[in-house]
Amino acid sequence: KPAPLVDRFGRVHTSLRVSVTDRCNIRCFYCMPLENVQFKPREELLTFEEIERVAKIAVSLGVRKFRLTGGEPLVRHQLHELIRRLAAIPGVEDLALTTNGLLLADQAAALHAAGLRRLNVSLDSLSEEVFQRITRRQGVERVLQGIAAAQEVGFRGIRLNAVSIRGLTESEIVPLARFSREQDLELRFIEFMPLDADRNWGETQVLSGAEVREIVSRDVATLSPAPRDDLSQPAVDFVYSDSPARVGFINSVTAPFCGACNRLRITAEGQLRNCLFSTEEWDVRSPLRQGATDMAIAEVFRDCTSAKKLGHGSDDQQFAPTERAMYQIGG
Ligand code: GTP
Ligand code: 5AD
Ligand code: SF4
Repeated sequence: KPAPLVDRFGRVHTSLRVSVTDRCNIRCFYCMPLENVQFKPREELLTFEEIERVAKIAVSLGVRKFRLTGGEPLVRHQLHELIRRLAAIPGVEDLALTTNGLLLADQAAALHAAGLRRLNVSLDSLSEEVFQRITRRQGVERVLQGIAAAQEVGFRGIRLNAVSIRGLTESEIVPLARFSREQDLELRFIEFMPLDADRNWGETQVLSGAEVREIVSRDVATLSPAPRDDLSQPAVDFVYSDSPARVGFINSVTAPFCGACNRLRITAEGQLRNCLFSTEEWDVRSPLRQGATDMAIAEVFRDCTSAKKLGHGSDDQQFAPTERAMYQIGG
């Protein structure tokens, strides 16, 4: 039996985030450029057969958790077909999807029927005006319909991801917290990371998880730390004093969680990365298309894992500038 994917720091990699497309139906400024987006030609994307093969090899190396990302994964044609293939692989214990929710109302039933059980929906604002300033498209109503449809077809424990931006999302904190408590959603506030295509990120725009937590505690209900069962989880969770709901904080900038990182990533065109901020990529697509053996592809996974840095793509844990923006990596 092959050895697990352990890096130089003893971190065991059991989670793979699979981007299925770099395309998206909105244009969030913290991820994508507004215009002239350079999307990869279709033939460069891994096919479902190729992703399935990569997933089986990853499982043989101890990977148990898969998350589909993008771009927006639901713009990939027939995504439920891929879900069905991945859900059928013995050893896949957790299969999840991160979506902006815009196409969820149409696809929730097919995704659930295909075997998807975990869903994270990105929604930074309940106000259409703020939503549009962030995404440069319309959409709150459609996202809310998507969430409702997902609940209706049986999705439970849906998480809501909200990126916090100073000077922009302060007004959204309390409404989002109240809404998720009412709707039984697990809200997580995310700090803005330097992965925007336009390279406008600055530390002054980071609205820290600690500040957001203060506001929730003050204006919604008192929070206390929830027991931490899974240290590799990016979110630090809190419970409300007056409700069973939880709220989490993904403090990647002010409190990096790289020490417990168990994640590898593969881009839509089949390039393996050992970090969001990885400065290198390991080509899986070429060997896949040149008839390489499973063992040879497993070696690529090992090389990628062995080269992983301490955190944020560097050994001094400073953010290393990435060549690619969030939509090209997969979040
Ligand atoms: P769960 O399995 O539900 O915990 O999902 P997740 O939080 O791992 O994934 P999701 O796609 O919902 O990501 C939420 C936010 O956390 C996004 O902004 C991600 O970029 C960020 N995130 C996820 N994994 C990592 C990571 O390894 N490092 C950093 N810095 N951020 C991450
Ligand atoms: N910083 C933090 N989170 C980001 N996301 C996209 N870009 C950034 C960024 N620059 C979030 C999305 C989604 C998740 C996959 O990543 O909002 O919830
Ligand atoms: Fe892992 Fe890199 Fe994220 Fe740190 S920044 S948790 S090392 S993926």
